[in-house]
Amino acid sequence: MNNIVLSVKDLNVWYNDFQAVKGISIDYPEKSISAIIGPSGCGKSTFLRCLNRIHEEVPGARAEGEILLKGRNILGSKIDPVQVRRSIGMVFQKPNPFPSMSILENVTLGVRLLGVRDKSKLMQVAEQCLRKAALWDEVKDKLSQLGTSLSGGQQQRLCIARALAIDPPVLLMDEPTSALDPIASLKIENLMSDLKKDYTVIVVTHNMQQAARVADYTSFFVLGELIEHGACSDIFTNPKEQKTEDYITGKFG
Ligand SMILES: Nc1ncnc2c1ncn2[C@@H]1O[C@H](COP(=O)(O)OP(=O)(O)O)[C@@H](O)[C@H]1O
Ligand SMILES: [Mg+2]
Repeated sequence: MNNIVLSVKDLNVWYNDFQAVKGISIDYPEKSISAIIGPSGCGKSTFLRCLNRIHEEVPGARAEGEILLKGRNILGSKIDPVQVRRSIGMVFQKPNPFPSMSILENVTLGVRLLGVRDKSKLMQVAEQCLRKAALWDEVKDKLSQLGTSLSGGQQQRLCIARALAIDPPVLLMDEPTSALDPIASLKIENLMSDLKKDYTVIVVTHNMQQAARVADYTSFFVLGELIEHGACSDIFTNPKEQKTEDYITGKFG
């Protein structure tokens, strides 16, 4: 097995008094894709959002446990959440390019915030990330157009390019294709397989076929608990738990 890049140990998350994630531990190997599946409301987004501390944006949300990024606990009180979000990029369900920014400005925002001003350097970053996000050929002649002028699938690939620009070792995706048509979704799935060469991807999906197609590992959550985690080849063909089997065969969910 590859090195573990991210290790979650006994993660518990509350919204005020309500516990949404209950004692979850999962290791994520470097350069792999891991999926999280489970019925709506089972804590998938909450869990994912803790991994780059974006859960802290919700008043009353609180996480306990450890999330070790290359051995360092990013939940630690001395760790700056802004730094964490630079190491762990995130892509959301609905593509969210910054509305008043061009394609170029969207992709380079992260590096511009880091202080890079040199135009040729910014172009270089933009081309590299747009190529990695399989969008370059479609936008190279219109980089100054608004990001929001693109199709939904292109916007989502722009958001992926934007997340890659700060070169995070880990990329989180929360139902990245659920707002897209089947062809645009397939492009994102293919892109995820390409990204695995350089990144560790953790993707929440309500689409089990998608998990089975793209992921190496899958975790199955119910009511805030991890029911089963393992290689996709086991989870989808030979699950250990009855609940997993019932879910993947459509008996509940
Ligand atoms: N901002 C919030 N405030 C309070 N409760 C929340 C909030 N977000 C989610 N929850 C609750 O936490 C549980 C898990 O939600 P979520 O992580 O969004 O599930 P999933 O992504 O699996 O659909 C649900 O019961 C949901 O109602
Ligand atoms: Mg969700």
